[in-house]
Amino acid sequence: MRTPFGSYWIDRKVAVGGMAEIYHAFDAHEHEVAIKKIHPDLASQEKFIQMFLDEVRIVIQLNHPNIVQLLDFGLAEGAYFFSMEWIDGKSLSEINVAQKKMRIRFPVDVAMWMIKDVCEGLHYAHQKQDRFKKPMNLVHRDVSPPNIMATRDGVFKVADFGIAHVRDKNVRTQPGIIRGKFSYMSPEQSLGKPLDHRSDIFSAGVVLHEVLADTRLFLRKNEIDTLDAVRKCEVPSIKQKRPDVPGEVEVMIKKSLSQAASARYRTALEMAESAETVLRERYPKSTRADIITFFSQIFPQEKFASQKTTAKKTSRSNFRSSLYTQSAGGGTKTVLSGAQNTSSILLFVADFLLAHRYWISTGLGLGCLFLIEYFI
Ligand SMILES: Nc1ncnc2c1ncn2[C@@H]1O[C@H](COP(=O)(O)OP(=O)(O)OP(=O)(O)O)[C@@H](O)[C@H]1O
Ligand SMILES: [Mg+2]
Repeated sequence: MRTPFGSYWIDRKVAVGGMAEIYHAFDAHEHEVAIKKIHPDLASQEKFIQMFLDEVRIVIQLNHPNIVQLLDFGLAEGAYFFSMEWIDGKSLSEINVAQKKMRIRFPVDVAMWMIKDVCEGLHYAHQKQDRFKKPMNLVHRDVSPPNIMATRDGVFKVADFGIAHVRDKNVRTQPGIIRGKFSYMSPEQSLGKPLDHRSDIFSAGVVLHEVLADTRLFLRKNEIDTLDAVRKCEVPSIKQKRPDVPGEVEVMIKKSLSQAASARYRTALEMAESAETVLRERYPKSTRADIITFFSQIFPQEKFASQKTTAKKTSRSNFRSSLYTQSAGGGTKTVLSGAQNTSSILLFVADFLLAHRYWISTGLGLGCLFLIEYFI
């Protein structure tokens, strides 16, 4: 049952985040939206609300396919909220949990699609100008797996632009809120120094390292040790964990994770272009259909809408992925479940028969002729 909330209809609560509760809702035109209701203890602080409203007024001007669109903000039934585009998909954190459960490694080409999308969204915001053509100098400040969302069509989007700024300023009154988020900070951010867009490039590098290595890069047992690790910025070679990662990707990771901002990519667009080059040169056959295939492997119980439209490609990649093996640590292991294997093999057989139908029919024809000749 839907409950009214301002001009919206709330359908269900989906998550409780660091500073808000997230709801699935509908607007007056029956469009799906996500509503973030700020936690009452934060909303009761005038300074926080002032900063929050200032930030949201800026961020609402962003409009890009790789940024979760902010739609509206305000006060309803005593709660400060903002509404945004509903993402029918998963956050990168959920994807990471699912892939670990299914024991499937994050494919390198999918990681490249992800970082290309994230960096394109970031770059758009970084270079955004106000209506007087003055740079807005926007920095996300919290590029991390919960703030990267993937749609069912295989498009990655950055959520919560700029909001971290408001949240972090209030960290003293809200201990624990940013726990875990320290591990995605840039060294300059962890030191409370002035920062620019290159801080987001560093955080994107941490995300990229982590999805490929399947381990947390800077997270330690407590916040002090985590901050210390970020500041020291010692980055183990990705090849240790993933020997299958091409050298160019290792260079990308090292460059984005340079301790000095001046040694990183100059813009997020440069990083996106590096990912695009890797895709073009190393994975020329990779398309967004491979992202959907990956999602369907790690969320086998869910349907992915666009699978139908990409059926042919997906059937091939399903088979390919049933042979997808984990090579780290020397051992190899087939990673799909039995049901998926059976359907992949059936799909492959159908695909094979279709692809070779001319040879098969010619062979059958010749066989029949031979039999007729032989028996008559
Ligand atoms: N626009 C959206 N559409 C669908 N689900 C969303 C949307 N935004 C957030 N979610 C879901 O809600 C979860 C929590 O999001 P939220 O941004 O509140 O948490 P957080 O990033 O961990 O914390 P915070 O941003 O407050 O520091 C996300 O991981 C995602 O699963
Ligand atoms: Mg968030």
